[in-house]
Amino acid sequence: MISVRLHPDKHSAAQAIAREIADLIRLRSESGKATVLGLATGSTPLPLYAELVRLSREEGLSFRSVVTFNLDEYAGLSADHPQSYRTFMEENLFRHLDIPAANIHIPDGLTDDAARECGAYEASIRAAGGIDLQVLGIGRTGHIGFNEPPSSADCRTRRVHLDEVTRQDNSVVFGDLAQVPRGALTMGVATILEARRVALLAFGAAKAGIVARAVKEAPSADCPATWLQRHPDCVFHLDAAAAQSL
Ligand code: GLP
Repeated sequence: MISVRLHPDKHSAAQAIAREIADLIRLRSESGKATVLGLATGSTPLPLYAELVRLSREEGLSFRSVVTFNLDEYAGLSADHPQSYRTFMEENLFRHLDIPAANIHIPDGLTDDAARECGAYEASIRAAGGIDLQVLGIGRTGHIGFNEPPSSADCRTRRVHLDEVTRQDNSVVFGDLAQVPRGALTMGVATILEARRVALLAFGAAKAGIVARAVKEAPSADCPATWLQRHPDCVFHLDAAAAQSL
């Protein structure tokens, strides 16, 4: 089931979700347990990552007990490529926290055996005890992670082709459409649905149409985000502009 939570703006949303994450980390670490976070890239989660960094700096929130799994990585980009999701995460989050390097997981975009890499990624998530909270954005095509339409509810971590709409959208950060990779490695829809809690973030009028489809359309592969309706604890954190078509 998807519940919708409206926030005055993206910064208030970031504060609320960061607080939820901080509470989870503190609660679990009190009983010696790790917290497993699923993380997203894109511009949407940036205020959340900035707030987590602030909590770490100003409130002493420690990430030593946190294990992370990112949703996806571009195929063909090395970890140190300026536009890789690994670089994005290092710059915007990881390098500012006390999270142990060994606890960070992002698919290897340079793998020469995607099936093995993706199978190992699923196995690592299972070995960590599953994802406690998955942070998600949403693409204009209805993608979550890089699960472009059509993506069935039972798809797993795998290599995918990117939709041209997504390549266009993401060309802003590459500066040139030709530089945007044509493929990616992404957690599957089934992998995402196994997270115990899901927090999807969407802000601004440009997301209103796809947010309305995700919430209101019957679940189908044509709009992969609709599969989230089958999740027992999925919250869409929206501002008024993103919620305007609901
Ligand atoms: C990318 C990512 C998604 C993200 C989406 C939206 O393609 N793979 O995980 O949710 O784009 O990006 P933005 O938040 O910049 O709108």
